[in-house]
Amino acid sequence: MTWFLFSVKRYLFTLKRRGVIGKRTTCRCLTSIIPKTQQPIYLSGMYTHEQEKQYYNQGKELLQAAKPSVEDVAALRNIINYADWKYYVQSEPVFADVEYDALFNLLKQLESEHAGLITEDSPTQRIAKGLSEKLQPVAHLVPMLSLDNTYNETDLLDWAKRCQEFVGDAAIEFCVEPKYDGASISLIYEEGKITRGATRGDGVIGEEITNNVRQIKSIPLTTAFHSDSLHQIEIRGEVVIHKQVFADFNEQRAKEGLAPLANPRNAASGTLRILDPEEVRKRKLSAILYHVSYSVPNLAATTHYASLQYLAQLGFPTPVKEMKCFKSIEEVVVFCREFEGRRDELPYEIDGLVIKVNQFELQEQMGMTSHHPRWAVAYKFKARQATSKLRKVEFQVGRTGSITPVAKIDPVPIGGVTVSSISLFNEDVVREKDLKIGDTVLVERAGDVIPYIVKPLSELRDGTEETIVFPTHCPDCGELLEKPQEEAVWRCINISCPSQVIERLIHFCSKDAMDIRGMGESNVKKFFELGYIKDIPSLYKIEWEQIKSLGGFGEKSITNLQIAIDNSKTQPLNRLVFGLGIRHVGETMAKTLANAVVHFKELYDWTEEQLIALEDVGPKVAMSVLDFFKLHENRHMLEELESLGLNMVNQKSKDTASGIFSGKTFLFTGTLNQFKRSDAEALVEEKGGKIVSGVSSKLDYLIVGEDAGTKLEKAKKIGTISILSESEFLSLINKE
Ligand code: IVH
Repeated sequence: MTWFLFSVKRYLFTLKRRGVIGKRTTCRCLTSIIPKTQQPIYLSGMYTHEQEKQYYNQGKELLQAAKPSVEDVAALRNIINYADWKYYVQSEPVFADVEYDALFNLLKQLESEHAGLITEDSPTQRIAKGLSEKLQPVAHLVPMLSLDNTYNETDLLDWAKRCQEFVGDAAIEFCVEPKYDGASISLIYEEGKITRGATRGDGVIGEEITNNVRQIKSIPLTTAFHSDSLHQIEIRGEVVIHKQVFADFNEQRAKEGLAPLANPRNAASGTLRILDPEEVRKRKLSAILYHVSYSVPNLAATTHYASLQYLAQLGFPTPVKEMKCFKSIEEVVVFCREFEGRRDELPYEIDGLVIKVNQFELQEQMGMTSHHPRWAVAYKFKARQATSKLRKVEFQVGRTGSITPVAKIDPVPIGGVTVSSISLFNEDVVREKDLKIGDTVLVERAGDVIPYIVKPLSELRDGTEETIVFPTHCPDCGELLEKPQEEAVWRCINISCPSQVIERLIHFCSKDAMDIRGMGESNVKKFFELGYIKDIPSLYKIEWEQIKSLGGFGEKSITNLQIAIDNSKTQPLNRLVFGLGIRHVGETMAKTLANAVVHFKELYDWTEEQLIALEDVGPKVAMSVLDFFKLHENRHMLEELESLGLNMVNQKSKDTASGIFSGKTFLFTGTLNQFKRSDAEALVEEKGGKIVSGVSSKLDYLIVGEDAGTKLEKAKKIGTISILSESEFLSLINKE
């Protein structure tokens, strides 16, 4: 507490000294500190074309270098910062993931060998510095105000009229940008280095989250403010989680039996306040910076748009690509209407648009209330929430036996879709939300996110609501349910439970697994109920005459189904592994397992240690794989699938072992013009060859592009290495 008061006092003192507070309700934020000089025009990107080429080529060279030296540390730092900017701000990755990781590891290794070379702004220093016990309060340099809301076009026209009254005859320009649905943040940079990140808090006092914002890769740790002699600058923005990242994250949580996070907004604001920066890093937050609230000395920009262009040019993620400026509010109205129709096209959630007066001079004349600036307003999109009645809860059995409560509500349209069924995930979620049958519930469906129940409106209860009772036995096979320790879900452990078998079959045939078109949910259920299929091997033994006599299936659709089932026999091994539905083995893990063997059977005898040695395999996955192969039924099923002609061999390793380049080593040097180096390297590996990093007598082929340097000289000296031009390399591949 003492610390808190001291910290607040210290900040208030600083603010007073700077003249920032004391006039808070009339604070003019940025406009009061912007000089009235001519607005500069920032057109180029963060890096010049030359720099882009230089960092790319240097990166590639370093990837090939036998052993990078201590002089390479600075270059590596620049290359990784450049790669981060391309990936996280521009969404245009320049290096393959493996290449990026290799460069990053090189830098980490060099820094660990020469600790004196570590700088605070090194990309390696984003990595977590350990846990903090609780978030510390910090005073904002300038209060973080909210926005006034408008919900329709008339409100918007009225707002523009009020703006005009403040500025007389001046011609107002309006900028329109997305209203990001995340958590607001404040970032302070001093002498070009990030020194503080904070949450909004109550707008005056926020929470210090510097270590957490350092985990957000789109936020630069250093930037060239100092080249404009800006000593201190505070930037405001929003932290969001991309919809896909959020969906993946929740999928992972579901696999771990954890309740999913409600929506990307809650996930973003919750993540920012986590005390473990390492966990923050894993959640892959993104940021968009939309406002400069303070700077010493003043920014050169005189408009909002120019200030954001300036930030973009320095490498910050900003709304500049999505935003548009207009000379009349009528044009703004048309743009807002049109934008709402394509809100789902953005990779993150937005809940509206923000319209801002562009000219700082005019913003200054309008000022602000204690709640919001008068020169900006939010145009809120239609809500994606609705209320409905919870009628009953059904319990579904998943393919791994998990029992999922599903709420049945009166059908209600939300965001263009009628919702009547909503997963409640597990018992804990039901209890935490205190849901009862008969409750009026608030339902939300945000963009692509599946609908969920936000909360019951308990104030509307009349006493007739009933407690939700969880079953003790499987609703399908009647087996006693179990709840393993540390899990939130109840499970039916009878692996022959019909519901589980059906779900396993649906999963096996699904697009991402064996991709058996025509064997979707309804046909699987129908064939199962009629006794035509009973387990995975039976799919390959269907008596087609029976299906024909069933009626309802045309000749063509039966032939197509037969072909689809037959074709699935040659699917790559990783699809089969995924299709088996081993717990915790998703698509990526299935690839890892499949790529670790030549024949699937090898996995039968693998030990926990061997499994854990594979990339990303932890004890949980290892145990699950071991449990799967321990079961006699599963081994028997695999034997049967093999005898039915299913592919059990990892094609890639087979090709590699017998590939035309098998046992040969390759190295590329210089600038390649006819193909991308990563593509060529992949081709070599596909054909069994190995890429090495340096020239030695063990090298078989050196492929030289333009400006090849020392590697070529060295290879010539050794004399036994085949030196090929790009064209010669191509004809070697084609000849083979
Ligand atoms: S400008 C003085 N611009 O919306 C500047 N805010 O509902 C005020 N928000 O607290 C903020 N996108 O967290 C601004 N493009 C955007 C925004 C934005 C989202 C958030 C911000 C604010 C909240 C108000």
